[in-house]
Amino acid sequence: MNLPAQWPALVAASRTARQLAYAPYSRYQVGAAALGSDGTIFTGCNVENASYGLTICAERVAVCTAVAAGQQALKAVCISLSGVPVPCGACRQFLFEFNPDMAILLDNLQGEPEQPPECILLSDLLPRGFRLAKTDRPGSLG
Ligand code: THU
Repeated sequence: MNLPAQWPALVAASRTARQLAYAPYSRYQVGAAALGSDGTIFTGCNVENASYGLTICAERVAVCTAVAAGQQALKAVCISLSGVPVPCGACRQFLFEFNPDMAILLDNLQGEPEQPPECILLSDLLPRGFRLAKTDRPGSLG
């Protein structure tokens, strides 16, 4: 999978976002950056909680930041961490909602400096994500 042309900016934004992680329980910092269809970049970091299950991953924060700014069409998401940067299962489904074919950039901070990140398709990570027909009817039970 080819890297998007904006990959250097996407990686830089993701790494900067990682430094803002709120991770007092795991001490594991994760950064993410989503590339909107108009080229705008939206960032996120993991936000942990004393009630562990309420923790939100960096990828989902980045997607929510994009949607809250009016950008729902996402071309790519970069994930930066020290280790193996694949999105968890919940995040794969969350990303799938906004583009099943988006590019996922895996930025391992332990990798070779200046090396481009690995780039894979979300559809390879989540081949048969859950879909639901969208409706205009507010409150419809479907
Ligand atoms: N985490 C992410 O932010 N993204 C992932 O894809 C996997 C895990 C965070 C959640 C938690 O704050 C920490 O990493 C350890 O699991």
